[in-house]
Amino acid sequence: MILEVNDIYTSYGLSQILFGISINVDQGECVALLGRNGVGKTTTLRSIMGLTAPKQGTVVYKGEDITGRPAFKVAKLGVGFVPEERRIFPDLSVRENLETGRKSAANGSAGNGEWTIERVNDIFPILAGLGDRKGGYLSGGEQQMLTVGRTLMGNPDLLLLDEPSEGLAPLVVRDLSEQISRLKAEGMTILLCEQNAKFATNLSDRAYIIEKGQVRFSGTIDELQDNAEIRDQYLGL
Ligand SMILES: Nc1ncnc2c1ncn2[C@@H]1O[C@H](COP(=O)(O)OP(=O)(O)O)[C@@H](O)[C@H]1O
Ligand SMILES: [Mg+2]
Repeated sequence: MILEVNDIYTSYGLSQILFGISINVDQGECVALLGRNGVGKTTTLRSIMGLTAPKQGTVVYKGEDITGRPAFKVAKLGVGFVPEERRIFPDLSVRENLETGRKSAANGSAGNGEWTIERVNDIFPILAGLGDRKGGYLSGGEQQMLTVGRTLMGNPDLLLLDEPSEGLAPLVVRDLSEQISRLKAEGMTILLCEQNAKFATNLSDRAYIIEKGQVRFSGTIDELQDNAEIRDQYLGL
C-alpha cells in the first residue's frame, strides 16, 4: 500500500468538510475519487498533500505517518500534486516550465529512472513541438499537459490529479485520457479526482464515490457498473 488515508476529518475554519474519509491506493494503481461539485474531493487531496491538515485521522504514505506535514515535505517524499487551476508560468517557454519542476527522485525510487523533458514529450507528444512556445500562448489542453509534465519532472511516486479533464473539449479529453493511460502503463500510481465519471472510470482500477464529505461507495469499476443505483446516478447510463 503506497497511500492509506484513515478516517480523516478536515475543516476550513468552522466549516467541517470531511467526515471520516478512508481511502487507500496500492502501488501502480489508478484510483478515482468521484463525486459532485463541492463534496470534498479537492479537500481530500489537500489533506493528503498537507495543504490543509486533517483535524483527526491519519495519512500514511509508504508506511510513514505524514499527517499534517507541510506540503513541501510531502512533495519531497515523492507525492506530486496537480491542482485544478493550471498554474503554469505564462512568460516562460514550455521547456523552461518543465525545467522548473525538476527535482531529484525521492528515495531513488522513481521506477523507470528519472524523468527528463524527452520522457515527458514521449507521454505528451503535443508538447514536443512546443518547446519554445511561451506558456501563456498554450491552449487549455496544452496547459493541462504541461502542468502534469512539470509535476512528473519532480519524479513523483504518487501522482494526485485534480479534475484534469475540467473545461477541456471532448477531443482534448480523449488525448489526455490516452496520455494518462500511457503514464499508468509505465507504472505510475495515480489518485484521480473527477466529476467526469466516464473519463475517470476508463482510466481507473477502482473508485470511491464521495458524498458530503463521506465515502458513499467504494469498489472496482466493474462493481461500480454493476450497482444500478450508483451507475444511474454517476455514470448517466
Ligand atoms: N479555502 C476554503 N475555505 C472555506 N471553504 C472551502 C475552501 N475550499 C473549499 N471550501 C468548501 O469546501 C467544500 C468542499 O470543497 P472541495 O473539496 O473543493 O469539493 P470538490 O473538490 O469535491 O468540488 C465546498 O463547500 C467548498 O465551498
Ligand atoms: Mg475539486
